[in-house]
Amino acid sequence: MKPDFTTLAETAVTRCRRLASFSEDTGSTRRTFLSPPMHDVHREITRWLEPLGATVRTDAVGNLRAVYPPSKTPASSLLIGSHLDTVPNAGAYDGILGVVLAVGCLEALQGERLPYAVEVVGFCEEEGVRFGIPFIGSRALVGRVDDDLLNAKDTHGIPLRKAIQDFGLDLREIGRAALRPESCAYLEFHIEQGPVLEKLGRPLAAVEAIAGQSRWELSFLGRSNHAGTTPMDLRLDAVAAAAEWITLVEQLGKTAPGLVATVGSVEVRPGAANVIAAEARVSLDVRHREDALRSRAVENMILHAEDVARHRGLSVRSTQRLNQPAVPMDSLLTCQIEEAIRQTGCPPHRMVSGAGHDAMILAEKVPSAMIFLRTPGGISHDPAESVAVDDVAKAIECGLGLLHQFASAPTFHSRTCRA
Ligand code: GLV
Ligand code: MN
Ligand code: MN
Repeated sequence: MKPDFTTLAETAVTRCRRLASFSEDTGSTRRTFLSPPMHDVHREITRWLEPLGATVRTDAVGNLRAVYPPSKTPASSLLIGSHLDTVPNAGAYDGILGVVLAVGCLEALQGERLPYAVEVVGFCEEEGVRFGIPFIGSRALVGRVDDDLLNAKDTHGIPLRKAIQDFGLDLREIGRAALRPESCAYLEFHIEQGPVLEKLGRPLAAVEAIAGQSRWELSFLGRSNHAGTTPMDLRLDAVAAAAEWITLVEQLGKTAPGLVATVGSVEVRPGAANVIAAEARVSLDVRHREDALRSRAVENMILHAEDVARHRGLSVRSTQRLNQPAVPMDSLLTCQIEEAIRQTGCPPHRMVSGAGHDAMILAEKVPSAMIFLRTPGGISHDPAESVAVDDVAKAIECGLGLLHQFASAPTFHSRTCRA
């Protein structure tokens, strides 16, 4: 019997809203890497997966890993997932919907087993909020959690290795988080987080590439002094320097089509109304689909920071947090996604993602692809983020179609993970 996609979609939306209630903050959603509410999220998702026959565990960095068994063994394994961490004051769907849809696709199978296993992955860290470094969850799957990363500290000075232990995990098990040789592909559903599909009047898209991103942290270093007694021309004001540079970043971000540059976080020390700031620590996030253009833009912005600091008599310290190249999605999988979208009666669309996703990390080791869902108003990273139930129903129908397409394509499940 054909599954009732609308009921499955309503359940998915209800589940996303419930997961949004597991938060570090009262009244809004914030669930950063290895924070206590992640335990609740894992417990809840496990409650949905175990009745389907899946075996659920949490790996050594905190990713939820659930295996839906194949019809016969040995078998290859398709990974479907997205992330479970959030930005501060988040919506209910960024990342979360991708994990909830993975569960929905398994439910749509109505007990059917496939000639390959399906591994649902709820990545523990994609946003980079806690350590200023994104994709820690997916890095563990491709074997890229090294000592430098484990020694990185959050704003409270807690090193990543301690945060992992505090969450109740065993770092010695980190090797078991890596992709297994039988992992043959990765699929991620995600809200578009932009206005394109809404403008086109289309519910779903296949993602052909994910834009590269650079993240930096800059500290403008001046000297604190009394706000009432220090004349304006005798100040080394770190906030004023940062403000001048932030305005330049905005201007430079407008100099190439498709380039985006954001200073999303400013921390001031000591941070009082009547004290000239000694330090302004700011973030920089720059993205473009062409890596060379992005690198040139970042270089220019850092040079401008040094210029601003110099002419004000301050210094600036800049630290690169991320240099993630643009990543094309697997072309064969992308064609299969387009076909599955077409089969739901919707015209497919292809687009580049400006947001970063775990798929860009997984693509290092396994063919990876993404499906975008239309985002009402193009609004994301905000509590107003939403999805339409009808679009979610189409996504589950598309996902089920893909699972069956893969099942009848022997070349699909003979693929293996690149060691
Ligand atoms: C993830 O949300 C990103 O910043 O692209
Ligand atoms: Mn996000
Ligand atoms: Mn996301």
